[in-house]
Amino acid sequence: MRVLGIESSCDETGDALYDPACGIVAHALHSQVEIHARYGGVVPELASRDHVRKILPLIKLTLAQADLRLTDVDALAYTAGPGLVGALLVGSAVARSLAFALDIPALGVHHMEGHLLSPMLDDAPPEMPFLALLVSGGHTMLVSVQGLGDYEILGESVDDAAGEAFDKVAKMLGLGYPGGPVVERLALTATPGRFHFPRPMTNRPGLDFSFSGLKTFTLNTVAEHHDDPDVAADIAHAFVEAVVDTFLIKCRRALKQTGLKTLVVSGGVSANQQLRAGLSGLASKLNVGVHYPKFEYCTDNGAMIAYAGYCRLHEGTTDSLAFNVRPRWPLDSLRRP
Ligand code: KG4
Ligand code: ZN
Repeated sequence: MRVLGIESSCDETGDALYDPACGIVAHALHSQVEIHARYGGVVPELASRDHVRKILPLIKLTLAQADLRLTDVDALAYTAGPGLVGALLVGSAVARSLAFALDIPALGVHHMEGHLLSPMLDDAPPEMPFLALLVSGGHTMLVSVQGLGDYEILGESVDDAAGEAFDKVAKMLGLGYPGGPVVERLALTATPGRFHFPRPMTNRPGLDFSFSGLKTFTLNTVAEHHDDPDVAADIAHAFVEAVVDTFLIKCRRALKQTGLKTLVVSGGVSANQQLRAGLSGLASKLNVGVHYPKFEYCTDNGAMIAYAGYCRLHEGTTDSLAFNVRPRWPLDSLRRP
């Protein structure tokens, strides 16, 4: 079953063809970063309009790369939520219309299930059950994954998501958007140890996260040192160190609590090299396996949607013909097939 996946929940238009016989056959991505950069964040209406412009040319490109035609596609999968409603409707309308015209099934996929399953596209995929640390621009969660759709959220952010905190810190430091990669690069040039930032919610039990206090601490440090032109890298470093340390503490706790022996880390922030180094160190200390998505599948992409759609369709999940998008959609409301 060859599945064409479409991602349009936020500021990347992505599509991909997944074939269980050979994996991702072809994929394409268009980032809207340039459109939103001047506003310092995503402008929903501009995002929707650009998805409309880019989605069909991307699908054509992907089919051409795979040397296939639309009639070679057996099913469509699209991100149905969570995300920006106008942006989601573009992918949903295109996928549903194509499926209707081709008389093939279409399925709405949960964006975070896409991220959660994205490391499965690796050459050495993790085996379920596992503990998943999902770290994106909109969500931060620790999830016990017992099987497809069998998800228990053990902890999540009570305020900002980790990626969002990276984006806001980048803004404070006068860096570009999105903030994650620029903060990461700047932090690598720092003199470590100049600042020590708090590790939020680590001195009390539980697996929830909070990044808003750390964000304020960072803002205050920026304000205190506004006359020092060389301080930005050291602040970025202290911020990244605090985020990474917080994840290490919570992952260690969650692994101990669940007894799970595999850790999966995905979502945009999983591209962060300091985070990967820290978690890989923790995993080897605890004798736990650790898996990340391929670099190109960390941030939003069509491949993870095509794959999640395939898994769901293969297990027999079906959807109505309606353009159903769900801007808010709890991950643990998903069902086992
Ligand atoms: O998963 P994603 O593409 O979109 C959502 O589902 O939200 O994640 C985007 C987020 C952004 O906040 C971005 O700043 C962050 O991931 N990000 C990073 C890195 N690359 C992207 N954060 C830290 N380090 C990175 N290298
Ligand atoms: Zn995402």
